[in-house]
Amino acid sequence: MKFGMNKRLAALPPYIFVHLGNLKRAAAAAGLKVIDLGQGSPDLPSPDYVIAAAQKSMTDVATHGYPIANGLPEYRKAVAAWYKRRFNADFDPETEVLPLIGSKEGLGHLLMAVLDPGDAVLVPSPCYPVHYNGVLIAGGLPKLMPLKEENGFLPDFDAIPEADLAAAKIMILNYPNNPTGATLPDLSLLKKALALAAKHGFLVVYDNAYSEIGFDGYKAPSIFEIPGAKSHAIEFHSTSKSYSMAGWRLGFAVGNAEAVKVLGKLKGFIDYGVPSFLQKAAIAALEGTDDIVRKGAKTYQERRDALVAALAEIGWKVTPPRAAMYLWTRLPREAAGMTSTEFCERLIREEGVVVVPGSGFGPAGEGFVRFSLIQPPAVLREAVARIGKHLKSLSKGEKVAR
Ligand SMILES: Cc1ncc(COP(=O)(O)O)c(C=O)c1O
Repeated sequence: MKFGMNKRLAALPPYIFVHLGNLKRAAAAAGLKVIDLGQGSPDLPSPDYVIAAAQKSMTDVATHGYPIANGLPEYRKAVAAWYKRRFNADFDPETEVLPLIGSKEGLGHLLMAVLDPGDAVLVPSPCYPVHYNGVLIAGGLPKLMPLKEENGFLPDFDAIPEADLAAAKIMILNYPNNPTGATLPDLSLLKKALALAAKHGFLVVYDNAYSEIGFDGYKAPSIFEIPGAKSHAIEFHSTSKSYSMAGWRLGFAVGNAEAVKVLGKLKGFIDYGVPSFLQKAAIAALEGTDDIVRKGAKTYQERRDALVAALAEIGWKVTPPRAAMYLWTRLPREAAGMTSTEFCERLIREEGVVVVPGSGFGPAGEGFVRFSLIQPPAVLREAVARIGKHLKSLSKGEKVAR
């Protein structure tokens, strides 16, 4: 057979959420009532006024043809205006803003557009899977920057070998972070990244998908709050989390004009851009009230509190995150000796509770699990009650069917 996977794709493990999805369906078929705390797909509805804008624009025949590849001028303007309002950062909508079919698509395609085979990329570990797999798919060479718990899950730039800094074409950073939920204490890490980028000539790719989901008053920054950042940075953003539009697939990139142009050129050959009616809906989202975004963040905060409290009741002590939609924590002591995958597979098979093994986010994630805050508090409590029952059976050494 000549038409199997190429070597780059064959080298990748199955996508973690596909694997979990298969286990989840098997658990449901076996009669378990599944509670899914796996993928970070928001369960909240998209705002009414955004849906109304999409419906209205769909009836306009002008949205029925191919969209403009690099986006509607009014969408690019709305993105630039949102960045000005939210981060006091200025962008030329013509050259420094690009609509995306979700930030994941944009991140993957940027790597393909910039990397030649063997080019080095500094990638956090653990990380959102496309940050690592996207480099491999593009034929690049990931150089891992471990995010250690003792460093607040921030990379230690001083530990990066000089040769890797010199070779790197791109450094990827993501805060509020998936999967760890870590946030930046201030802008110093980003300033240091930009100084290294200027010295070594690489591009900082800043994934800011969770900037609007902050807890306890926390407001995440943009890398473009730092003067001069545009010379070496591009930032990726999404309507998926802030406006619960993950199913609609719409994001945007802003920043360095050359990086935006390069990404736009590749996309021009591969896709026709974001459907126009979606761009119209996104304009309504970005120009609408911030209350809806604040309400969403408050909902996730309440869920965080419910989950942390429920876990404490079963003796699993965790550090509450200040942002994003996840709780990242070490495996409980009852799971000593198990890998994160073994532990999570058991939870799905035995209890019908889906949480994600840390190793799904790279080798540095081993020993951790990630809960997504995508269910209301009562369901989170039910999930933890089932986990508590399972941990008791583990500590009694009961043999669990596998
Ligand atoms: C860090 C991070 N970046 C990007 C994305 C993808 O967002 P989008 O829906 O815009 O593709 C996700 C989705 O979970 C994410 O966690």
